[in-house]
Amino acid sequence: MEPLDRPLRAVLRPPGDKSVSHRALLLAAAAKGRSRIAGLGPGADVRSTLRALACFGPRFEERDGAWEVESPGLDGWHEAEDVIDCGNSGTTLRLLSGLAATRPFLTLLSGDGSLRRRPMDRVAEPLRAMGARVDGRGAGRYAPLAVRGGELRPLRWRSPVASAQVKSAILLAGLRAGGETAVEEPAPSRDHTERLLAWLGLPVATEGRLVRLAGPATPPPFRLEVAGDPSSAFPWAVLAVLTPGSELEVEGVLLNPLRLGGYRLLQRMGADVEFLPERQEAGEPVGRIRLRSSPLRAVRVDEDEVPAAVDELPLLAVAACAADGESHFRGLGELRVKESDRVRAMAEGLAAMGLPVTEEGDGWRVRGPGRARSARVSSLGDHRVAMALAVAAWALLRPGEAVELEGAESVAISYPGFFREVRPA
Ligand code: S3P
Repeated sequence: MEPLDRPLRAVLRPPGDKSVSHRALLLAAAAKGRSRIAGLGPGADVRSTLRALACFGPRFEERDGAWEVESPGLDGWHEAEDVIDCGNSGTTLRLLSGLAATRPFLTLLSGDGSLRRRPMDRVAEPLRAMGARVDGRGAGRYAPLAVRGGELRPLRWRSPVASAQVKSAILLAGLRAGGETAVEEPAPSRDHTERLLAWLGLPVATEGRLVRLAGPATPPPFRLEVAGDPSSAFPWAVLAVLTPGSELEVEGVLLNPLRLGGYRLLQRMGADVEFLPERQEAGEPVGRIRLRSSPLRAVRVDEDEVPAAVDELPLLAVAACAADGESHFRGLGELRVKESDRVRAMAEGLAAMGLPVTEEGDGWRVRGPGRARSARVSSLGDHRVAMALAVAAWALLRPGEAVELEGAESVAISYPGFFREVRPA
């Protein structure tokens, strides 16, 4: 990878949002009848959800650029014949464990080496409290996870982590609990499950950090168009802000406030970022984001700001390398249990490029501004790390220097077309 030696001027339509895509597939498979989902995210993770759901009986067919889902409904699902491979996808495994907990049969959920190292007790515990039997490796902590569900009790759960995956798994299980299931989080995490359930007419209510669902409830079949993924657009957003003379317009993008924390932090660093809402789609605001290259100043990010920017933090570390002054990122413990330990992966990758980043507790200290030099770095098989290191190379390398990125192919987890999109010259 070589430095981008020209401004980025582009109008970008990012691929369909990964989080909304997973949820649309799960709810279409839970509904009885035929649903249609256009604009589904193209990444391998979303494919993992589709394949996993097909193991229970729902059928999926791609027609005229959209996916048609024909399902017998949650109550018509049959036991899967084999262990279900969730690949690299935490969202697939955790959200599906919630639906599996409602079924009176055995479901075995596993995935790749990265997924089998990630904590699953955060969903196993509440599902057990609802009455499901959930076991796994390491005293029930890790996948493979064995879920034997059945009659569930409603639950009021105070989650120790702000995690949309945990909240969603509990709400999905709550669809078959007789009574009110409620989840309280330490800080609000992305709310796509709640929005989608409400859009489908189901009795879900949010009051601050508390979400309540009155069960049992059955989603009807639906037609939906998935908006563009703000997290997939973010590498280009950071590249545009860091590259002099650039102007980027992201169109058809999800403008859910709980997904825009990364963009707001860029703004706080001095970036020229404009949000232009245009319409509602399946209960979500959708529109444009305009960005222009801007000089940046250092930033301080605290734990309560992490949930709304959780997938954008690796790229914010890159932005901080270009900013004037000392940036501090704190409370990034959740990044250590993503597809890789992203705190370490970014500190190591950026430091290998000679950039002024060090690990500081569960976070980073960045003494900007810095320029990058030739290096060989690794994504550690993590898509977000791969994209962040690629942007660091394009935006921060000195002329004539180059970065070799191992594991670049991991971008296919969320964004298979990443290296073809806004191809630097
Ligand atoms: C996701 C939630 C986040 C995020 C992940 C997708 C989701 O994880 O990092 O990429 O779709 O619910 P956590 O909820 O575990 O923080």
